[in-house]
Amino acid sequence: MTTSDALRYSRIQLTHGSGAMPAVGFGTLIPDHVATKQAVKTALEVGFRHLDCAERYGNEEAVGDAMREAFEAGTLQREDLFVTTKLWNTNHRPERVRPAFDASRGRLQVDYVDCYLIHTPYAFQPGDDQDPRDESGQVIYDQEVTLADTWGALERLVDDGACGAIGLSDISLEKLREIVAVARIKPAVVQVESHPYLPEWELLDFCREQGIVLLAFAPLGHAMEPKIIDDPVITAIAERAHMSPAQVVLSWAAQRGTAFLTTSTKPQRIQENFQVSTLPEDAMADIRDGITANVRFNTVVHSGVPGFIPRPS
Ligand SMILES: NC(=O)c1ccc[n+]([C@@H]2O[C@H](COP(=O)([O-])OP(=O)(O)OC[C@H]3O[C@@H](n4cnc5c(N)ncnc54)[C@H](OP(=O)(O)O)[C@@H]3O)[C@@H](O)[C@H]2O)c1
Repeated sequence: MTTSDALRYSRIQLTHGSGAMPAVGFGTLIPDHVATKQAVKTALEVGFRHLDCAERYGNEEAVGDAMREAFEAGTLQREDLFVTTKLWNTNHRPERVRPAFDASRGRLQVDYVDCYLIHTPYAFQPGDDQDPRDESGQVIYDQEVTLADTWGALERLVDDGACGAIGLSDISLEKLREIVAVARIKPAVVQVESHPYLPEWELLDFCREQGIVLLAFAPLGHAMEPKIIDDPVITAIAERAHMSPAQVVLSWAAQRGTAFLTTSTKPQRIQENFQVSTLPEDAMADIRDGITANVRFNTVVHSGVPGFIPRPS
C-alpha cells in the first residue's frame, strides 16, 4: 500500500436521513445459508460495518444470526453497524410495505433498519410467489400500483421511526428524477450496478447535486467476463501501488465518493476487499480516462428481474 488507509473507514453522512453510511460495504447475495452466516461473521471480524441485505436473497435470518452472535459475544454493538435491506417487487402495494418491512426486521433480528430500499422500480403481481410468471414464462407485472405510491409507504416508515433512511435500487436516472420531484422525503441512497466499465458519471453527478449517496453493487463486475480485475489499466496501477487489482477497483469506488458493496465467501478475499487505500490522483485519472469499455453485467434495471439471483429450475 502506498498511502493512508483512512479510506476504508470513511463514512458518508446521509443528507436525507439519519446516520452515516460506511463507504465500504459487504453484500449478502449468497445462496447458501451456512456460507452466508460464515461470510458475514468473517466480514464483521475483518472490519466491515455496513451490510446489504434483501428479502429476495432469502437469507436474512442467516445474516441476523451472524450479527446476533457478534452482539452476544460483545465484540460489536448494534449501533456500530449500518444495515440495509430491501422491499421485493411483489410487495409494492402500499398495504404490503409495512408487513414486508417488519418481516425483514424480524428475520434480521434487529430493532431498527438503517436504510430500506425499493429493490427494483418494477411491481410484480402481489403474493407469496416472489417470481410470478405466466404460462409462457414471462414475469407478471402489477399495473395497479405506481412507484410513487410505494415511495409514499416508505416515507411513512421513516415518519414512524422504523428506519433511518429510504432509497431506491436498480433505478434509471430518468425514474430517479421522477421520484425526487414528487418525494416528501427524498431518497437518501440509490443502489445501482457501477464499476469502471459502468461508471454512471451522469447519475453520480445528479446524486451529488441532490445529496443522494450512490451505492455501487457489483463493483468488481460480479467476476464476470470481461473481468475488470484483468483490465490492463487496473493491473498496471495494482503493480505500481502494490495493491491487488480488486483493491484498486474498490479503492477507486470509495475515493470517487460512492459507497460500494462487495461479496465473497472466501475469508482471504473478504479481508482483501476491506483493505482499500487511497490511490494516487494519476491512478484515478487513468481509470477515468484510460478505460473505455462499457459493460452492464446485470439487466435488472431494464426488467426488474435480478440477473444474479439463481432461479429454481
Ligand atoms: N440491487 C440489486 O439489484 C443488486 C444486484 C446485485 C448485487 N447487489 C448487492 O451487491 C452485492 C455485491 O454484488 P456482487 O456480488 O456482484 O459484487 P462483486 O464484488 O462485484 O462480485 C462478487 C464476485 O467477485 C468475486 N470476488 C470477490 N472479491 C474478489 C477478489 N478480491 N478477487 C477476485 N474475485 C473476487 C466473488 O467470488 P468468490 O465468492 O469466489 O470470492 C464473486 O463471484 C451483493 O451481495 C448484493 O448485496 C444488489
